[in-house]
Amino acid sequence: MTRVFSGIQPTGIPHLGNYLGAIRNWVALQDDHECIFCLVDLHAITVWQNPTELREQTRQQAAVLLASGIDPVKHILFNQSAVSAHTRLGWIFNCVARLGWLNRMTQFKDKAGKDRENHSAGLYVYPNLMAADILAYKATRVPVGDDQRQHIELANDIAKKFNHDYEVEFFPEIEAFVPPQAARVMSLRDGAKKMSKSDASAQSRIDMTDDADTIALKIRRAKTDPEPLPSSPEGLAERPEARNLVGLYAALADQTPEQVLQQHGGEGFGPFKKALTDVLVARIEPIAQETARLLGDVPHIDAILRDGGQRAATIADPIVTEAERLVGFLK
Ligand code: TYM
Repeated sequence: MTRVFSGIQPTGIPHLGNYLGAIRNWVALQDDHECIFCLVDLHAITVWQNPTELREQTRQQAAVLLASGIDPVKHILFNQSAVSAHTRLGWIFNCVARLGWLNRMTQFKDKAGKDRENHSAGLYVYPNLMAADILAYKATRVPVGDDQRQHIELANDIAKKFNHDYEVEFFPEIEAFVPPQAARVMSLRDGAKKMSKSDASAQSRIDMTDDADTIALKIRRAKTDPEPLPSSPEGLAERPEARNLVGLYAALADQTPEQVLQQHGGEGFGPFKKALTDVLVARIEPIAQETARLLGDVPHIDAILRDGGQRAATIADPIVTEAERLVGFLK
């Protein structure tokens, strides 16, 4: 069975972009894959986190994943720092990856901006740890949003170089599994910016714990333009905000943008936003309610993560021990 690995940072509340770009596809892959899902707390601290909040957000993130349909019994859900294989292989990959490769990573450039000198070394080598996350399990399919494609390409470069340098066929090739719809959900306030946990404006995103009134308000306030909706997707080319809202509706209603516009073309944003709010609330409200229920039993969440960590280690430890042996460490 194909092994799937994916991760999400336990910083802030997961938003609609995380859900449509990743979590929803994680849930679907569980039917016919062996899945390992990880709350990447080691990645989270590449930017300083308040320790109490990091613990709380790790649990909250776990609760949202469980409420969305992740099955921690048939599959594995755990937090990254619980399995030391990630950092052990991450160090080896720090020594395999080339500086030139890391210099090309657009996400580092976006996060560090002009103030590069003041960011952590961890943020810079972040993609090496991400490669280790996946390859510690020899997972081959990685469901992610569009923004992670470059990191998966780098992981493949690292795997190839490791195999080449040590003259082995040890690490497999990885495939990024990016959804056809909503792979890049944009901010509700600016159609040129990705929906992101780090955006200062809470109005820019829908959180997976928002209630119906909050969702309705955010969608009512979402930036649009004065024109009615076009009757086909070509008419959205120069209209990023309208394109984003149509894309959200399509992803949530399991339709193509063509089908959405056949139905809603010619409509103003008033009625379309109402229809979009309805599909959003129908999807998010049950997840938000179940998340709140799960968070009422923190020991249960902790037990799930602990069990997941132990099972994850059982898979990763022998693979990483073998990688260490190949490198020449005395065992
Ligand atoms: P993170 O925590 O930023 O995001 C988690 C997942 O959500 C997707 N995503 C989006 N998809 C569509 N539209 C958006 N606006 C949007 N924002 C986020 C991301 O593509 C991702 O799939 N580096 C990763 C975490 C990670 C990981 C891994 C992923 C660490 N190790 C190994 C896969 C495999 C990250 O920061 O995701």
